[in-house]
Amino acid sequence: MSSKYLKAKVASNEKIAEGIYRMVVEGDYSANPGQFYMLRAWGVEPFLSRPISIHGITDAGIEFLYEVRGTGTEIFSKLKAGDELELLGPVGNGFDLETIKGKVAVVVGGIGIAPMYEVMKHIKDSTVDFYAGFRDEVYSVDYMKEYADNVIISTESGSVGHKGYVVEQLDASKYDYILSCGPTPMMKVVKEMGEKVGTPVYVSLESHMACGVGACLGCTCNTKKGKERVCKEGPVFLGEDVSLDD
Ligand SMILES: Cc1cc2nc3c(=O)[nH]c(=O)nc-3n(C[C@H](O)[C@H](O)[C@H](O)COP(=O)(O)OP(=O)(O)OC[C@H]3O[C@@H](n4cnc5c(N)ncnc54)[C@H](O)[C@@H]3O)c2cc1C
Ligand code: FES
Repeated sequence: MSSKYLKAKVASNEKIAEGIYRMVVEGDYSANPGQFYMLRAWGVEPFLSRPISIHGITDAGIEFLYEVRGTGTEIFSKLKAGDELELLGPVGNGFDLETIKGKVAVVVGGIGIAPMYEVMKHIKDSTVDFYAGFRDEVYSVDYMKEYADNVIISTESGSVGHKGYVVEQLDASKYDYILSCGPTPMMKVVKEMGEKVGTPVYVSLESHMACGVGACLGCTCNTKKGKERVCKEGPVFLGEDVSLDD
């Protein structure tokens, strides 16, 4: 990874659901699925760049799927084709797809779906059941189906699929590996379900980040080895190694 921010041009930036955007940035990229980039599209304010997962890498460039939460993502949502932004990455470890094989469950909640498109594309010689949970509106699932053997959808409102939480649909004992990304309480339930039946669960963590390159220690989490940096040793951890308690 270059330690310098690179400038690149937005190829497209599309609203795909309420508050959810898919942005394609021009250029040639290669990365480990599950890694992310630090992005900025501003000069001084806001001070910090924002970590956004790699959603997909194609011939057209790199895709990011993001939810507008505050100032930074609001600025991203206003970008148009031809606008410039700066990227640093790829950052973090990503998923170890040499190890993850067999019967695999991918369990996501909301915008936790973002890294899993590129991840599922690279899971080979395996059966992949994709469990996706949303509050109400369902997004991105259609093209995810390309890489999933089964798709199981839940919405809290009951508008699509099972009414309730995505974990209510999951039987962890059916799987060799489970990969999860989404709200921490959801990943905590998935991790505990896996631990009960001895199925390894990989979680992709979120944390507030300042430098994104392991220097500021602003993003640490508690693991069996002590404090580790989500931006450097993570964002992907083996569930049993990491604490998801506050
Ligand atoms: C490794 C990693 C990968 C990520 N990938 C994606 C992605 O692919 N798509 C996506 O939409 N988001 C992703 N995020 C989350 C994204 O970085 C934050 O939503 C974003 O930084 C918010 O910036 P903002 O300026 O819009 O909001 P801010 O104004 O900074 O914050 C708005 C609200 O969101 C909360 N918040 C901000 N950042 C985080 C965070 N990292 N974790 C939890 N709460 C936060 C704040 O506490 C505040 O309540 C990722 C985070 C990490 C650490
Ligand atoms: S964000 Fe600085 S060490 Fe992780």
